[in-house]
Amino acid sequence: MEHTARTAFFEELKARASHWTADLRTLFQADPNRASTFRVKGAGICLDFSKHWLDQPTWTWLCQQVDHMGFREIQRELLKGARLNYTENRAVLHLALRGQADDPFSLDGKGVMPDVLHERARCDRFADGIRQGEIRGHSGQRFTDVINLGIGGSDLGPLMACQALEPFRGNGPKTHFVSNVDPAHWGSVASTLDPHKTLVIVASKTFTTQETMTNARHAKDWISRGLGPAAVADHMIAVSTNLSAVRAFGIQEERMFPFWDWVGGRFSLWSAIGMALRCQIGSEQFSALLAGARAMDQHFLDTPLESNLPVVLALLGIWYRNGFDLRSHAVLPYSQRLARFPAYLQQLEMESNGKRIDHHGHELSWHTAPVIWGESGTNGQHAFHQWLHQGTDIIPVDFLLARETVEEDQEGQLLLIANGLAQAEALAFGEAHPDPHRNMPGNRPSTLIGIERLDPQNLGALIALYEHKTMTQGAIWGINSFDQFGVELGKRLCHALLPTFQDPNHSNASAFSSSTQAWVEWMRNTD
Ligand code: F6P
Repeated sequence: MEHTARTAFFEELKARASHWTADLRTLFQADPNRASTFRVKGAGICLDFSKHWLDQPTWTWLCQQVDHMGFREIQRELLKGARLNYTENRAVLHLALRGQADDPFSLDGKGVMPDVLHERARCDRFADGIRQGEIRGHSGQRFTDVINLGIGGSDLGPLMACQALEPFRGNGPKTHFVSNVDPAHWGSVASTLDPHKTLVIVASKTFTTQETMTNARHAKDWISRGLGPAAVADHMIAVSTNLSAVRAFGIQEERMFPFWDWVGGRFSLWSAIGMALRCQIGSEQFSALLAGARAMDQHFLDTPLESNLPVVLALLGIWYRNGFDLRSHAVLPYSQRLARFPAYLQQLEMESNGKRIDHHGHELSWHTAPVIWGESGTNGQHAFHQWLHQGTDIIPVDFLLARETVEEDQEGQLLLIANGLAQAEALAFGEAHPDPHRNMPGNRPSTLIGIERLDPQNLGALIALYEHKTMTQGAIWGINSFDQFGVELGKRLCHALLPTFQDPNHSNASAFSSSTQAWVEWMRNTD
């Protein structure tokens, strides 16, 4: 879509928003069927968007606009392996990672499924071998613990999913995650573990990321010191696209698990990057995760836009961000096991859509990704919900709910879900009170997203829901959701800065501002 047509869309969106007056109480009073009109289902997920500043004409108009933007064509390109990541000339094919043998995913005219299935089977065999004790440590002991060393997409997805699916571990190893370059992170995890029984996964798409490679060296030393250098081969594996760097690090061929440059880091859980989770829950449960995501893919590709779950989330976000200039969006899982889901979404949405240049190189005249944040309910209720209910900002909220718990305590689950529903009700309808301090204004929008239970299948669908939401918003904003050049400058400056700590007269020092130079001095403790 041309820049001018997109500009016209955002201008009309703003104009419609500026004329919006109806509040949620009035909307519900006017339409007794509102809860069912704005309720959609797919891939095991039920989504209620009735508590939004929406009426039928606005909703129909929004959906038509996405249709006119050629959105269906973009979806078809996903299957054909089009180079949607055009700034890096890379295809976007993470959907193939949850695909099946006869799926049409291809790159440059060649099907990718044979390679995907081959590597998937290798990962499955390895993970099940660890779980069943067929693959053991250097001294013949079973692996009881797995440490994943990675950061960003090589950490957040596996970490979030391992926490979410802990009840499915059975006899599998416990998983641990080290991401931060802060030595305290590695130290606090390693100090609790026995190297004889620990497998270390170095998860890095590029195998150059400073944090991960630093932690990988700590791990290598730890294993060498504890078990001797020969043990490293048995206790370290690597997941990467950069196999020559993996070899140079000293990891053997059969312990390398490759993936492809057409998998973006934040979309990579489904690849070998999910190895820690595979070890934790086993290949069968991991297949259920993939099946759940695939079900959402099919829903996304086949369902009309008005009842397409990812499109619904995407359009609500655009309506508030670009129509009403709301800058923040909260995701509140009423599930302790999904506590890291908001952090995972921060990378997914903010790294993907934190952009300001369109396909033609023009600076955008509209806003893109809002701040994404959140905390598990009910903890957030005793921290920031006051601000959500009575603060001066309006924050659209996603409430994530599960009908059943996988633990025994179904009564506790009722208490949890009653809290979530009560919060959505209070946000939407408030309560009139003569004392302005006690008055609850209401009219604060939220979406309720329900799954049957937090199991691998439903988690897969939930993650894929947000992946497609992110991609859909990127397509509407007219940006490339698949690169992340914004994180590069800081990395380069950090490399340039390091030698100046040792030598303040290093030629790099003068390139930095007087402020930074003063902090280097402060680190040297010489002022
Ligand atoms: O934060 C930048 C980034 O490149 C992310 O996109 C990526 O997920 C993360 O770093 C880790 O990269 P790698 O897997 O190459 O170590």
